[in-house]
Parts: sequence; structure tokens; C-alpha cells
Amino acid sequence: MSIISTDIAKAVELLTNEELVAIPTETVYGLAGNIYSDLAIKAIFETKQRPFFNPLIVHIPSLKSLSSIVSNVPEKAKLLAEAFWPGPVTLVLKKKNTIPDLITAGKNTVAVRVPNHPITLELLNRLPFPLAAPSANPFSSISPTTAKHVESYFDHKIKMILDGGACKSGIESTIVGFEDDEPVIYRLGSTSLEAIEQVVGKVKIKNKKESNVEAPGMLARHYAPKTRTILTKNIIKVIEENSSGKIGVLAFKNTIKHENVTFQIVLSETANMEEAASKLYDALHQLDEKNLDIIIAEKLPTKGLGKSINDRLSRATKQ
Ligand code: TXA
Ligand code: MG
Repeated sequence: MSIISTDIAKAVELLTNEELVAIPTETVYGLAGNIYSDLAIKAIFETKQRPFFNPLIVHIPSLKSLSSIVSNVPEKAKLLAEAFWPGPVTLVLKKKNTIPDLITAGKNTVAVRVPNHPITLELLNRLPFPLAAPSANPFSSISPTTAKHVESYFDHKIKMILDGGACKSGIESTIVGFEDDEPVIYRLGSTSLEAIEQVVGKVKIKNKKESNVEAPGMLARHYAPKTRTILTKNIIKVIEENSSGKIGVLAFKNTIKHENVTFQIVLSETANMEEAASKLYDALHQLDEKNLDIIIAEKLPTKGLGKSINDRLSRATKQ
């Protein structure tokens, strides 16, 4: 029997019994457990084969619950929460002592967000505890944007995937930390830098090296297909350099016309970044299943979500 189900009551029961349930969000599917259950949290790390030094995001039902998780909310954090929650912005704030060290990898900060998905909001409202949920994929592989993706990773390893359809935003939340109460972006994501700056003014982005320290999950190789992947502005040139193998192409808006291409996906024919983001991981999953020798991905224009998409693609290409 399939573990994919829409039964919220069953998800409540499993989570209450310290089991894991994969949950839909607007960004990607998460692998969720009770933040106060050592058993559940350890199972999350074990199931994902995620190193314990990489902390988890806490999911709460509304801004009202924030005060039970964090001890201090800088003014600009409040502005961001009011502007984007429920939605794909994760805030890293000083944690309350009641938040277990396992969640935060021993840090004195905790990452927290209100996801924007009706089914998961309903679930969070029915539970007396928040949910820790990293993306529901094995460590460093492509994040899941459908219940089927999760099933292909974790069938037999978890008891239930709560089905909420395909994720609308399609890439992870944007993570914002605070240094001297000023916002700093640790991970680009589904909320564009421009949208964040409209609310709080100019924001610094940590470069990769620095952000490895702040958000250890942002390792160079991440979100990666098993197939060798190359990111380029000049697809035709890379096709010609690799003409002996089976080639897959991930194009932004224009179909690549070249006889050596075996399989290709165009992310958005109208050059719409939101559409491209929502299709990105499913496209990588599909390309990865085609037994190709190489996936050639086109670099997007670096505005709006293009920056976040390029960030994910560049991590997908690291060996
Ligand atoms: O959209 C999302 O954020 C999805 C959905 C399921 O909510 N979740 C997600 O979780 O992407 P995960 O675990 O795959 O990525 C969480 C990132 C990691 O890079 C981790 O290092 C960082 O958040 N993080 C968590 N707690 C942190 C903290 N206290 N300080 C800095 N970074 C933190
Ligand atoms: Mg992840």
C-alpha cells in the first residue's frame, strides 16, 4: 500500500507518537517530527543521513507562536515576518532555552518559519507542538517537490507522506539571520532579494565561504543529481565539447535545437522566474532518471529568483 495519503488526522496521530511524516510546503516537501521529541529528531537525521552539525528549521502555525521559540525579535525580523509569513522566509533568531540543542546543532540561534500551505497549516494548528522539517531528501540530493519524489527516496523508511500536490514555489525558503540586529541573507531562496530589500532596505548576502559557517547546510555540493551536471551560459558550446555522450539539457526559455540532445526541458517559455523556480527540481529529477551521460543546465539572468535558481544549479554541479 502506498504511504502517500491526504489523511491529516493520521498525520496528527503519527507525529504525536513521535513518528516522522513528510509534509507539503509551498517550497519543497519537508521530513517532519515533533521538535520536543529526541526520538523523532534523531530519526530525521538518520533517515536523511544528515550530519548532526547541520541544524533544522522549526515550522510554526503563525507569528503568534514565535515567542515560544525565540527570546528576542529584532525590529527588522518583525517586519519580515509580518510581510512574508505565511511564506518562504526563514528567520534565524536567538533561541529560547526550551529549544533542544539537537534542533540547532548546539547553536544559540534557531531557524523558524510559517509555511504557506493550507494542509500543513491545518496540521500545525491541530498539533500542540511545532514541527522540525528539513527538506525530505537524502543529504545533498535533489529536494522533493511532489509526494512521489519523497516516496522514491523514503518508501519503507517512513510511514506516511501527507499529499499536498506539487509545491508552488519549488525552491527552498530564503534564510535571513541577524548580526547586530541587521538582516543578513544566509541562503537565497523562494523570496527574492529584491522583495526582502523592499521591506528592510539593503541586505548583505553572506558569501559561500562565510555562509558555510553560519548555515552549515549550504555546502558546496547540494541539491545534486547523480548525473554529471554542468552550468553554462553557452549551451551549444558545451554540447559540442561533449558530443560523444547522451546529453540532457535544462534550458531557461528557448528550446535548444541540436541533434546531439537526447532529452530536454524548458523551464519557462515566457521567461517567468516564478514558473522556472517551481519547475526546477522536478526537471532535475526527470533528467536524472534518463540515464544521461551529462546534464547541461543554462545559467539564468541574475535578477529576481534567477539568482536563487543559479545558486541551486551551481551547487548541483559541484563534484
Ligand atoms: O523551504 C524550506 O526552508 C524547506 C521547507 C521544508 O521548509 N526546508 C529546508 O530545510 O530547506 P533544510 O534543512 O533542507 O535547510 C535548512 C537550512 C540548512 O542550510 C541549515 O544549515 C540552515 O537552514 N539553518 C538551520 N538552523 C540554522 C541556524 N540556527 N543558523 C544558521 N543556519 C541554520
Ligand atoms: Mg535541504
